[in-house]
Amino acid sequence: MRKKIVAGNWKMNLDYNEGLGVFSEIINMVKDEVTGTQEAVICSPFIHLHSLVQLAKGYSKVSLGAQNAHQAESGAYTGEISAKMIKSIGAAYVILGHSERRQYFGETNELLAKKTDTALANDLRPIFCIGETLQEREANQYFNIIKSQLVEGVFHLDAAHFSKLVIAYEPVWAIGTGVTASSEQAQEIHAFIRKEIATKYSQEVADNTTILYGGSCNPKNAPELFAQPDIDGGLIGGASLKSRDFVDIVKVFN
Ligand code: PGA
Repeated sequence: MRKKIVAGNWKMNLDYNEGLGVFSEIINMVKDEVTGTQEAVICSPFIHLHSLVQLAKGYSKVSLGAQNAHQAESGAYTGEISAKMIKSIGAAYVILGHSERRQYFGETNELLAKKTDTALANDLRPIFCIGETLQEREANQYFNIIKSQLVEGVFHLDAAHFSKLVIAYEPVWAIGTGVTASSEQAQEIHAFIRKEIATKYSQEVADNTTILYGGSCNPKNAPELFAQPDIDGGLIGGASLKSRDFVDIVKVFN
């Protein structure tokens, strides 16, 4: 059966020493308090990643990820970081297609399809983010938007490669706003995503795909969200910067 995952997305927060401090607290709390088979993932800035991988050695329930990777294997792309580099330091995951990357850095479904291919070719597991804006929700366009993000971003993959993905549904209107989707709204979309995966691949692939919810998730609302049958965990922004809050969310699956 599919894995339960709670992933933290630190975004551009915490300097190097602050990050090491928060992460040390997280691994100690996970070691002492997490009793289930769920996995905790921290997606840190690139600067922190190598040190966090070293700190996490021996803690099987904690993995690391990056927040972005370039679509090319290597080359003259000043300032960019490749999937191969991320893999080479021992990180396991990479967030792709976060709405902030789509909005502020012009990342399109077409570009994200290439980034997904390159990440998978380097044995990284993409956490592939999709979700509609408030305008798209109010115009009742959200099913179409989510479907096109899937079709254009990841449905070119064969089943074996698709099976390595984690999908994250993050309604843009819920990210960093304090407004979370209701558990019914989130479940409706998660069930839709799983149905689309079943139609494209198979029921088995769909049943084995971990689908995370993201957007103002916190220790208070996580239990109800994670109790929904098609919600397999969360992608946590603000609350992942506080070790106590993040680990309390991870513990929902104890
Ligand atoms: P938030 O961010 O939890 O702060 O809303 C979620 C995300 O952007 O991944």
